Amino acid sequence: MFASRQLTSIARRSFSTSVAANATKVAVLGAAGGIGQPLSLLLKQSTLIDHLSLYDIVNTPGVAADLSHINTPSKVTGHVPENDGLKEALVDANVVVIPAGVPRKPGMTRDDLFKTNAGIVRDLATAAAKYCPKAHMLIISNPVNSTVPIVAEVFKKAGVYDPRRIFGVSTLDVVRASRFVSEVKSDIDPSTAVTVIGGHSGTTIIPILSKVQPSKKFTQEELDALTHRIQFGGDEVVKAKAGTGSATLSMAFAGARFALNVLEATVAGKAGIVTPTYVSLEADPEGGKVVKGETDNLEYFASNVELGPEGVKKILPIGDISEFEKKLLAEAIPQLKSNVQKGVEFVSA
Ligand code: NAD
Ligand code: LMR
Repeated sequence: MFASRQLTSIARRSFSTSVAANATKVAVLGAAGGIGQPLSLLLKQSTLIDHLSLYDIVNTPGVAADLSHINTPSKVTGHVPENDGLKEALVDANVVVIPAGVPRKPGMTRDDLFKTNAGIVRDLATAAAKYCPKAHMLIISNPVNSTVPIVAEVFKKAGVYDPRRIFGVSTLDVVRASRFVSEVKSDIDPSTAVTVIGGHSGTTIIPILSKVQPSKKFTQEELDALTHRIQFGGDEVVKAKAGTGSATLSMAFAGARFALNVLEATVAGKAGIVTPTYVSLEADPEGGKVVKGETDNLEYFASNVELGPEGVKKILPIGDISEFEKKLLAEAIPQLKSNVQKGVEFVSA
């Protein structure tokens, strides 16, 4: 959907390799990985990006050389740790997308990834706080419920914290919810937006099926099955990939969609973009206060967020949800609290 729109506008623009001083730079950290490569390919199609900067501990020169032959306007550079590669990748970036880290194998929870990915995300965030403190940080690396607080704590320590600019990418839950609902209700278009709130792991993923538009009556059996499939869609892919990784292509699609939403709001000045994303509830003190009241004072939550020029503009309330959804929310809150605390303590230790 976004790709065809972007491709049409690409066709109207002339090719250029120069990058202006006020160019829009997007850095992808973990760019040579299963998500990083297709995500970078999708971002290469966007005319909102002037410079696509790819960083990984290995293989980014090859990925960048390959992508750089695509005849869209953006310049592509590839960086590895040698020669100040991380600094070069990050300096002046407007948006930093982080899919760096290890994925799950069958039998693992996302929380099992914490011991490896927490340190990776902390170190990348430390560099971003130094070299592009005003960048919008889009965190894909799991466990998102904890890695987003890690990035926030690193930015606080560095004195450059702006909660409006740090996002956990939970778009894949929204993408799955739309797709799975359309498979159950054949008159629902698969691109129909479905709100998914909470966090990004198992039972913290809460699809709000009571608000699907056009309004639908689901049987309790359908609600149970759909909710479970959306909450554990990641496991479906992990199992099917049989030890070779987790969702990469659907995640690249979701990550590119969210990154382009952020660019549209922050760089192109497009108003009215609303999408669920996992953010600090301090990002909009007024709206965040309402959601805190609805969630027993959580500090981070994926709610519908209106994006604006600075990132988060407004956090929208959960509002009126069904008794079934209220129960899911009540069950998710203690896990979300402990996931956040784990991330915060990791940085303060
Ligand atoms: P992958 O192993 O294919 O790729 C990860 C890449 O990160 C590798 O290329 C690796 O070299 C790189 N990397 C490792 N340490 C690094 C460092 N210090 N700096 C830079 N790069 C580094 O894994 P993947 O399938 O792309 O998944 C990446 C992460 O995304 C995992 O944690 C996974 O759980 C998560 N994920 C999140 C979502 C979501 O919805 N938020 C969806 C799918 C996957
Ligand atoms: C997903 O939802 O697909 C990702 O979080 C990857 C995973 O571990 O399931």
